[in-house]
Amino acid sequence: MKPTELKDAVDKRRTFAIISHPDAGKTTITEQMLLYGGVIREAGTVKGKKSGHFAKSDWMEIEKKRGISVTSSVMQFDFEGKRVNILDTPGHEDFSEDTYRTLMAVDAAVMVIDSAKGIEEQTKKLFKVCKMRGIPIFTFMNKLDRDGREPLDLITELEELLNIEGYPMNWPIGMGKGLKGLYDIANQRVELYHPYNGKTYLPLNPETGEVEGDNPLADDSIYQQTLDDVQLLMEAGNKFDPEKIAHGDQTPIFFGSALTNFGVKTFLQSFLKMAPAPEAHKNEVDDHEIEPTNPEFSGFVFKIQANMNPNHRDRIAFVRICSGEFDKGMDVTLHRTGKQMRLNNSTEFMADSREQVSTAVAGDIIGLYDTGNFQIGDSIYSGKQDAELPPLPQFTPEVFVRVSPKNVMKQKSYHKGIQQLVQEGAVQLYTMYNSGDYVLGAVGQLQFEVFQFRMLNEYNSEVVMTPIGHRVARWVDPEQLDPNMSSSRNLLVKDIHGDPMFLFENDFALRWFTGKYPDVKLTAKL
Ligand code: G4P
Repeated sequence: MKPTELKDAVDKRRTFAIISHPDAGKTTITEQMLLYGGVIREAGTVKGKKSGHFAKSDWMEIEKKRGISVTSSVMQFDFEGKRVNILDTPGHEDFSEDTYRTLMAVDAAVMVIDSAKGIEEQTKKLFKVCKMRGIPIFTFMNKLDRDGREPLDLITELEELLNIEGYPMNWPIGMGKGLKGLYDIANQRVELYHPYNGKTYLPLNPETGEVEGDNPLADDSIYQQTLDDVQLLMEAGNKFDPEKIAHGDQTPIFFGSALTNFGVKTFLQSFLKMAPAPEAHKNEVDDHEIEPTNPEFSGFVFKIQANMNPNHRDRIAFVRICSGEFDKGMDVTLHRTGKQMRLNNSTEFMADSREQVSTAVAGDIIGLYDTGNFQIGDSIYSGKQDAELPPLPQFTPEVFVRVSPKNVMKQKSYHKGIQQLVQEGAVQLYTMYNSGDYVLGAVGQLQFEVFQFRMLNEYNSEVVMTPIGHRVARWVDPEQLDPNMSSSRNLLVKDIHGDPMFLFENDFALRWFTGKYPDVKLTAKL
């Protein structure tokens, strides 16, 4: 690819994740976006709505063709001149460290909120990671077709709980059964919920802020109320600040209803205009910036997905491309080992799988079939310049189990399996401070199940896991540690680096501890 072509291709990329609490509407809005992108042809194909099962549909076809569950990975499509990559952040029982790590591979996040429920737990957790990265965060207040909370109330809660400014891009005209439309501040128009005379958009008069010409809502009291609300917002609310948005200090807020596809297109259009194209990444080797348009390829592994089918033991390493262009069969160096490898076996998450266009550039995600070469966080690059992309953060696990081999005679495969799976980032390993027994930590229960399955299938090691349950993990300053501080309510373990850590039974136990030992410094990772 010529440098100008690479630049054009990179400029078109918009790579983001959708964060939300289960049931807020992430699948539904993703599906609407895929419809706009022409990837699927019919709504309801992602999830069989009533049955809760996956529908036999275009969607399954895509999965079959690509040989990997796209529902839990990457979806790519073209829309209005942009190439969009949506990275899925599995929630529900699939919530895991991979969910967090995926957020390290995106350039922006979309936060979907159920407008009847407001900010919920999982949204808060995922938001924290986005905020730490300082990436732009766009908010979609969903389910406007249902009676929800007052818009102002939702925004106030968002600002207070998440510590970010909100800027409404549009304002609901009614909600639930009384939903009339959206007063679109950003585009200076009213978007009607029920089209009028074949029209959905009514332009606003820039002077008066009222609909120009024939207006079906002219005498509607809800519309009049909206005009007052918007005026108040413009006078007293936050000022639109692109700089703050770029750093995740202000979030543009869009109202809408994913299910009835209302406000989704407006959202997508505005979002794609405002969201950033791939930016430079720091090279840890020499502190220089690696520009996305650098002709040499570089990328990092942010997720490794093992095939749960025992007949196919391959794994897929998901690589976020940070610079250059990926070519099938290209030679790269793995920074951690200095080893050269040829990338023959890859899968790309292309806009149209039938066309087999195999150009992936900075901003895109590729999946490399892996036989055990890669670890989470690995950097790969082409060319001579050694490249190491910034390390992925460690996340504080929340659930723990004690683990031991069922057959004590099979220690070797047990230790080998644990060592490799821990290196791969499947779970985190701790040892009991006194006994040296193994404890595993994860952010989601599923990680343990995957661990147990893979130990058996890949290492022929049957493991016994004894639940410890949810714990609040805090690292403790080794200088201040007295092992007698530990009890059954705050287990003392060492992490993989030998650093001591308490696992508190709950927040209450943590508070009790800090009350008893006010000078002891406790820290949490993310
Ligand atoms: P998730 O991926 O975030 O978990 O949420 P998902 O899209 O699956 O949506 C969760 C439920 O909320 C679904 O209902 C979906 O139809 C509904 N939903 C999503 N967006 C909207 C919206 O804008 N308005 C309304 N009223 N509902 C919405 P479900 O109970 O799983 O299915 P169904 O049987 O109700 O169709």
